[in-house]
Amino acid sequence: MNKDFLVQEILRLKQEKNAVILAHYYQNEDIQEIADFIGDSLELSKKAQNTDADIIVFAGVHFMAETAKILNPDKKVVLPDWEAGCSLADGCNPTDFKIFKEQHPDHVVVTYINCSAEIKAMSDLVCTSANAKKIIGSIPADKKIIFAPDQNLGNYLQKETKRDLVLWKGSCVVHEAFSLDKLIEIYTKNPTAKIAAHPESESHILKVAHYIGSTSGIINFIKTEPAAVFIVATEAGILHELTKAVPEKTLIPAPSTEDNTCACSECAFMKMNTLEKLYLCLKNESPEMLITEELRAEALKPIERMLELS
Ligand code: 13P
Ligand code: SF4
Repeated sequence: MNKDFLVQEILRLKQEKNAVILAHYYQNEDIQEIADFIGDSLELSKKAQNTDADIIVFAGVHFMAETAKILNPDKKVVLPDWEAGCSLADGCNPTDFKIFKEQHPDHVVVTYINCSAEIKAMSDLVCTSANAKKIIGSIPADKKIIFAPDQNLGNYLQKETKRDLVLWKGSCVVHEAFSLDKLIEIYTKNPTAKIAAHPESESHILKVAHYIGSTSGIINFIKTEPAAVFIVATEAGILHELTKAVPEKTLIPAPSTEDNTCACSECAFMKMNTLEKLYLCLKNESPEMLITEELRAEALKPIERMLELS
């Protein structure tokens, strides 16, 4: 379908149905351009909590649309592609996680928002990369803590908060693929560059980063830091917003261990969403995110605790 037609129809349907389009920074450019709001996971959760739209179109991955539904039981939440998963969420299944929890009784369970509603329902607190240090810091020092499902973010939090965390061994396929050797090679050629990394990256990448933070955190750092060149270690979709925000700065995507170029730092799940699928989901109001009330109520508790603390 023609892009102009899709844009026109999406805008028309959005108004007719009182819908809002929320998009993550990793979405493709066409989707970011038509979204009402673009943000990191925390900002998108807050937007989802406060919207007065009747329909939320969530252009992100499955767990993000699910979180929006948990926060908005009375609204219709639709997503462009039902199959848009996440290696962190998909690598932590509820049966195994229940056993893991039982192996560590008396631990406070903190889970990264990149997990399913079932895992959230088994958690005491949820966090995002933007508030994880604060959430861990809110837990009394004498309490033991389980952190799941991202071991890289978990390792980073252990260093930052000086707390011992029992880690679930999950990881993000995109952030795990950055090559330190190639990064150093680029940095050697651009010695005044600043390296900004997402905390889902492995510890050897985080060790050389000048800034570590969520997608919004990285954007703010690059906007405010006076350097002219930045090496960006997160998913390449973020470059769209950055190029608009700081056209005068040079942005170099961190290289991956794969031989191909920057395409390998793209999240294949995020990129499953297209403008056409977004149009169709708004038109057909499908696929719709549905969740049982029992599960929703349990998953809501740790999300609400997070939002109160954020
Ligand atoms: P942010 O919360 O930083 O946007 O991260 C979401 C995510 O999935 C990173 O891979
Ligand atoms: Fe999940 Fe990684 Fe994709 Fe983020 S980039 S949605 S953590 S697979």
